[in-house]
Amino acid sequence: MLKLVGVETFYGKIKALHGVSLSVEEGQLVCILGANGAGKTTILKTICGITEPEYGTIHFNDERIDHKDPEDIIKMGISLVPENRRIFPELSVYENLMMGGFLIKEKELFEERIERVTSHFPILSKRGSQRAGTLSGGEQQMLAIGRALMLDPKLLLLDEPSLGLSPKLVKEIFTIIKDLHKSGVTILLVEQNVNHALRIADYGYVLTTGKIFLSGTYEELLDEEKVREQYLGEGKYVRRSKLWSGR
Ligand SMILES: Nc1ncnc2c1ncn2[C@@H]1O[C@H](COP(=O)(O)OP(=O)(O)OP(=O)(O)O)[C@@H](O)[C@H]1O
Ligand SMILES: [Mg+2]
Repeated sequence: MLKLVGVETFYGKIKALHGVSLSVEEGQLVCILGANGAGKTTILKTICGITEPEYGTIHFNDERIDHKDPEDIIKMGISLVPENRRIFPELSVYENLMMGGFLIKEKELFEERIERVTSHFPILSKRGSQRAGTLSGGEQQMLAIGRALMLDPKLLLLDEPSLGLSPKLVKEIFTIIKDLHKSGVTILLVEQNVNHALRIADYGYVLTTGKIFLSGTYEELLDEEKVREQYLGEGKYVRRSKLWSGR
């Protein structure tokens, strides 16, 4: 469904992605793991057309998309839930969902989508008229995901959905992602929460400084002592790396 080959993205003269190749098959939940600054967000932005790759190709359902406009890419069925949610805090919950459905012309289809999104997130219908900025962190994340689902994407890109949430809410968000996946949504998930992400993913890629360093299933990556010791055992992963010992 999605295939990146040798993708290189620059910010000015600085190369952020050094030949990234990865693929997502229809129905899969694939995760990209990596530390701060590894290039995770840049991969998602490059897929969405927000930043253009200098080299390499990106295909979505056999169509080349690496130099298309972001709006055309959205229309093809790729939706992004950006880092730090980026909801519109001054608008109501309902208005935020409306913004997500900006391409929908028919009122009936719009109402149908609202219904579907609120069936995934009942809290959003209860809070419809509340100003989005006053929602809790977890509710804001649900709104950000709900907003992206308004266009019924074929592929959902999630950028660190668990960031800044309490352990209880992190668990809840991962359960929601797992349920979305079960309901048939193909997902590319970017995370630093290694244990949670790999547990629900079909396949994982480990990214270091703009390069794919390793890839495999949970079990395969778990076997990689290199990942645990050299990569996941460093810095902010010290605490989390302990999680690798038990599933
Ligand atoms: N707009 C920009 N201009 C210049 N450099 C940038 C820009 N955005 C990102 N970078 C650089 O590109 C590299 C990759 O950044 P990116 O945001 O993709 O990392 P990340 O893996 O998402 O990190 P984090 O986990 O902190 O969100 C970093 O070195 C970052 O400083
Ligand atoms: Mg990021």
